[in-house]
Amino acid sequence: MNRATAYREIIVVLGVSGSGKSTIGAMLAKHMQVPFDDADDFHPIVNKEKMAAGQPLNDEDRTPWLETLAYHIADRSRQGGGVLACSALKEKYRKALVRYCSSPVRWVHLDGSRELLEERLSDRQGHFFKPHLLDSQLDTLEPPTYGWRLDIKEKPEAIVSQIIELMKMEKADFGLVGLGVMGKSLVLNLASRGIAVSAYNKPRTGEERVAKEFAAAHADRDNLQVYDDLPQFLESLHSPKKIMLMVSAGPAVDAVLDELIPQLEPGDIVIDGGNSHYYDTKRRVNFLREHGIHFVGCGVSGGEEGALKGPSIMPGGNLDAYSAIAKYLEAIAATDKNGRACCTYIGEEGSGHFVKMVHNGIEYAEMQLIAEAYLLLRERAAMTIEEIAALFSEWNQGELQSYLLEISAELLPFKEGDDYLVDLIYDAAQQKGTGGWSTTAALDVGVPFSTVSESVMARHLSALKPLRVIAAAKYGRVCVPDDVDRTSLVESLRHAYASARVVNHAIGFEMIRRTSDQYAWQINLSELARIWTNGCIIRSGLMEDLVSAFEKFPDTHLLLIDTYVELLKAKRQGLSSTVAKGIEAGLSLPVFSASVNYLNGFTAEQSSANIIQAQRDYFGAHTYRRKDKSLDQIFHTDWTKHS
Ligand code: 6PG
Repeated sequence: MNRATAYREIIVVLGVSGSGKSTIGAMLAKHMQVPFDDADDFHPIVNKEKMAAGQPLNDEDRTPWLETLAYHIADRSRQGGGVLACSALKEKYRKALVRYCSSPVRWVHLDGSRELLEERLSDRQGHFFKPHLLDSQLDTLEPPTYGWRLDIKEKPEAIVSQIIELMKMEKADFGLVGLGVMGKSLVLNLASRGIAVSAYNKPRTGEERVAKEFAAAHADRDNLQVYDDLPQFLESLHSPKKIMLMVSAGPAVDAVLDELIPQLEPGDIVIDGGNSHYYDTKRRVNFLREHGIHFVGCGVSGGEEGALKGPSIMPGGNLDAYSAIAKYLEAIAATDKNGRACCTYIGEEGSGHFVKMVHNGIEYAEMQLIAEAYLLLRERAAMTIEEIAALFSEWNQGELQSYLLEISAELLPFKEGDDYLVDLIYDAAQQKGTGGWSTTAALDVGVPFSTVSESVMARHLSALKPLRVIAAAKYGRVCVPDDVDRTSLVESLRHAYASARVVNHAIGFEMIRRTSDQYAWQINLSELARIWTNGCIIRSGLMEDLVSAFEKFPDTHLLLIDTYVELLKAKRQGLSSTVAKGIEAGLSLPVFSASVNYLNGFTAEQSSANIIQAQRDYFGAHTYRRKDKSLDQIFHTDWTKHS
């Protein structure tokens, strides 16, 4: 996978000729399982000939060589890091070497006495470097005042072990609190990108061994430290500290902050990567600001696998704070089709958690649509689970492609013995809250949000299982007309599903636009769609298309953009007839119904709201406005007095 923006570690083992940098660099690279490069192999032939002829290289000779190496290091950095053995004698050479490399570089200087160096060089056979050039190298050498200096007296194995120990002892760049499923995956993701990471899990009752077991399981990682002691964990981090919290949303976040705040310093950055409510995030941003600490509310989507291999990341809060942590978050994020990180600064305050909440609202409705399609196919078209899985799989090859459709096609045929597992799962949906929160938020802003709100209510209705069992016995089944044409039902459903998905995304993005306007967050919808094209749960072909749709028409309601007008005009009939067929068969299709109702309502010039206004005015003198008068004027009628 092309990871153009990833952050990778480069180690440069430097020193004059004979210091052993090639041997030690190669051994170190082998231990770290990263590629090794010897800078000598990059010399142009003229340089090699010059050295073989006993002439020292000058700055001019080295310039093209350093330029080639600089490009090579930048490539290595993007591709996963590496070790380079290079003389890198002068400060300006070292600067030139890393000029294109965006990741930090560790410098390991192998130093030794002239006698030892000379002895080693005279033992060498067939090397183009002539021993008497050593003096010129020693004269040129400007030992770095940073990095690690190691004496070459030791055996190569001992020197490599020392470097590994130094790497372990070095302070970590990034800290993570909370080794639950997501926390562990994110830590491993960070470590796998070469980031020095420190993790902490509180040894609360029942979790006494979590940190120790995690440390033992990953003892081979030189850039990972694990603690169950908070002060030690904090001590292990570079300042300003960058600490990501992966703890359950709600009081647990405040409890961790209460412990952390007294031990943090102004300028430190705390990132909340859980599914926190954006109101809480707003409050925490302000509260931590009083202590001089930055708080970044960061949506993370992608589940366990995403967290490990590359989630979609939605950080919000202070922009300067984001800039300081961007390279870490962008390194661990998924990448879009152009190799850019699926991570972008969303906006101020709780905007990161806000968009994650709406993401989950869209996710709830997308999941419900698939569940409703399954219900219709099974109950109305009498299709088997295998047939439905095959149909979903086929849909997933084309314009309907999505991660949720893909996993649904995969999970349906899963068997336990002779039974399909889905048939054994108790049919009462659970939820952690984000869908409901987004519905409440939509009510607060006054945005129609019916696909999402219906998907939340469908979960609540499903949870009434005991009552549903009683009611089913009392009511019996609706008498279903048996004249179903499976082919046409499937075709209508395909159109219905395509239409409902567009409506659901239109509703979700409109909610974000309106809230962004209200809080002046200036959320870029195209950029948001871009970071949702990979890593997150609602990634899909449609999301790819929305990137350019919102780029071209940033201020337009999705259902008014020509592409989608054409799509819905061609397919809305399928949506209406699918809902009608399902409802007449006694099936519950709340999100398909909400989609067609939204579409019909949105595209109706004349609604029935005039009757609502009249009723309000009748019983409560709430007034109304008139089509035939200025909308600035309000009217009241005594409705009991007929003219
Ligand atoms: C994600 C998911 C993730 C989580 C949901 C589940 O984007 O990775 O949305 O955040 O799986 O919150 O939510 P419910 O338990 O409410 O279905």
